[in-house]
Amino acid sequence: MLARDWYYNERNRIGLEPAVASIYDNFDDADLRARAALKMLGLQRGWRIADIGCGNGVLATEAALMGAEVDAIDISPAMLALAEIYARDRKAPVRTQSAGLLSFTYQPESYDLIVSEFTLHHLPDFWKAVAMSRIYRALKPGASFYLRDIVFVSMPDACERDVDQWADFQIKNHDFSRENVVAHMRDEYSTFGWVMERMLTDVGFTLVSADYHAPMHGTYLLRKPNPSA
Ligand SMILES: C[S@@+](CC[C@H](N)C(=O)[O-])C[C@H]1O[C@@H](n2cnc3c(N)ncnc32)[C@H](O)[C@@H]1O
Repeated sequence: MLARDWYYNERNRIGLEPAVASIYDNFDDADLRARAALKMLGLQRGWRIADIGCGNGVLATEAALMGAEVDAIDISPAMLALAEIYARDRKAPVRTQSAGLLSFTYQPESYDLIVSEFTLHHLPDFWKAVAMSRIYRALKPGASFYLRDIVFVSMPDACERDVDQWADFQIKNHDFSRENVVAHMRDEYSTFGWVMERMLTDVGFTLVSADYHAPMHGTYLLRKPNPSA
């Protein structure tokens, strides 16, 4: 096997982390929204779940409080530190892993649910597909992947309007500055919704639903087929 010196360096933007962590150190009603999402996903006591790009750890904490065995995974030590404090304050037994979408360690077919929210856009498209296929391998047959991200719904000639609407939405609802929005467009890797769907199905997932809402938000529910069901 080739030495992996050509592998994408997930930590190459880690210098931005204190600024990003400060934005996410703001919890509003995120716990209620996380709990509702986990209920919608049918979370059961004893499930093994991973939240990859867990940020401040709200969803991971809620899942642990609902009785799941949770791995909270993030590339940013600053974010993981926030997640650890958040979980500890609520006496939630969350296990943290300092790793990324391309490097988290897992037992094949071990998770009942993997969640990744607003994280995949940190990877260019080829590497998104690599991450999706690692997630696929980590899930048990029949298990679900719940993915949310910032995606383009329009073709490039209509994107200007989408980006303006998304900037207004983020500034109004999420304490983002215009500079955060500009940095996302300039330096990160949001892609088209249809590219996400094609990559997800090509790695083997069944697309249960794809929902495009708010400006530039895509929510996908995927299932790993279970040949023996
Ligand atoms: C926009 S925040 C979203 C946090 C949380 N999931 C949420 O929805 O509030 C993106 C998170 O992804 C993390 N991240 C960035 N690149 C990553 C990678 N390659 N693998 C895992 N996490 C990554 C960042 O440190 C950050 O915590």
